[in-house]
Amino acid sequence: MITVQSACLSFDLDGAHHSVLQDISFRIERNESCAVIGPSGCGKTSLLFLLAGLLEPNSGTIEVSGNRRSGTILQNFGLFPWKTVWQNISLGLTLLGESKDRIASRVDNLLDEMGLTGFDNHYPGQLSGGMQQRVALARTLAIEPDILYMDEPLSSLDALTRERLQNLILEIWRQKKITTVLVTHSIEEAVFLGRRIIVLSKRPGSILSIVENPMAGVVDYRKSDAFFHACTDLREMLKGEQHG
Ligand SMILES: Nc1ncnc2c1ncn2[C@@H]1O[C@H](COP(=O)(O)OP(=O)(O)OP(=O)(O)O)[C@@H](O)[C@H]1O
Ligand SMILES: [Mg+2]
Repeated sequence: MITVQSACLSFDLDGAHHSVLQDISFRIERNESCAVIGPSGCGKTSLLFLLAGLLEPNSGTIEVSGNRRSGTILQNFGLFPWKTVWQNISLGLTLLGESKDRIASRVDNLLDEMGLTGFDNHYPGQLSGGMQQRVALARTLAIEPDILYMDEPLSSLDALTRERLQNLILEIWRQKKITTVLVTHSIEEAVFLGRRIIVLSKRPGSILSIVENPMAGVVDYRKSDAFFHACTDLREMLKGEQHG
């Protein structure tokens, strides 16, 4: 379980004090799928960094209970440019000391699932943004994390590839019962994948609402009236938060 209590984050830059996140509190249960949505610059990436332990809050607490293995997909992919696609995806498994055979079969499966077969020996710089995003997704899924933190992992993909990978994330969440935290700009993506949706206000980000969305993960939810209504409600909520 993840428990965030009264967390605040700020930076001092050029003598000025910038508040990024204000009084953030929420809980994410084990095996929960949670989406975080809010206007650009409201602190979504910063919040994910706090959860992943890459940043410390200035005040308040963040607790991730249990001895969990987390995987993080960063907004800028975080791939190693001097390693090939195959080496990038296999990196975590190599660090975990997995056998050569197991690494090879797992990486080949992931290449296939991500539609990257044949690109094993390419370097990230030789791929499109969407392909790099899929390598980043494959690299993180390779280590079978218990908690998956994702920062707009599908933002550079065409609509159909995006839907296919949304389905894949859903499938992974359902089968492996991992805890997922997905930062997204897309209202539809938040509603499709987040059983709990944390809605942040414009900068400095505070909690505008925590929406319970229990239909997320149900087959064919995308085609239902309930899905349409949930998206409309979320859109209305976010409309008031645009920087004017
Ligand atoms: N290291 C830092 N030093 C100073 N300010 C920072 C730092 N990191 C982030 N910020 C500020 O914190 C605010 C929130 O940034 P963050 O990247 O978390 O937003 P975001 O919601 O992820 O935006 P986007 O949707 O565009 O990705 C921004 O105003 C940014 O300038
Ligand atoms: Mg961001």
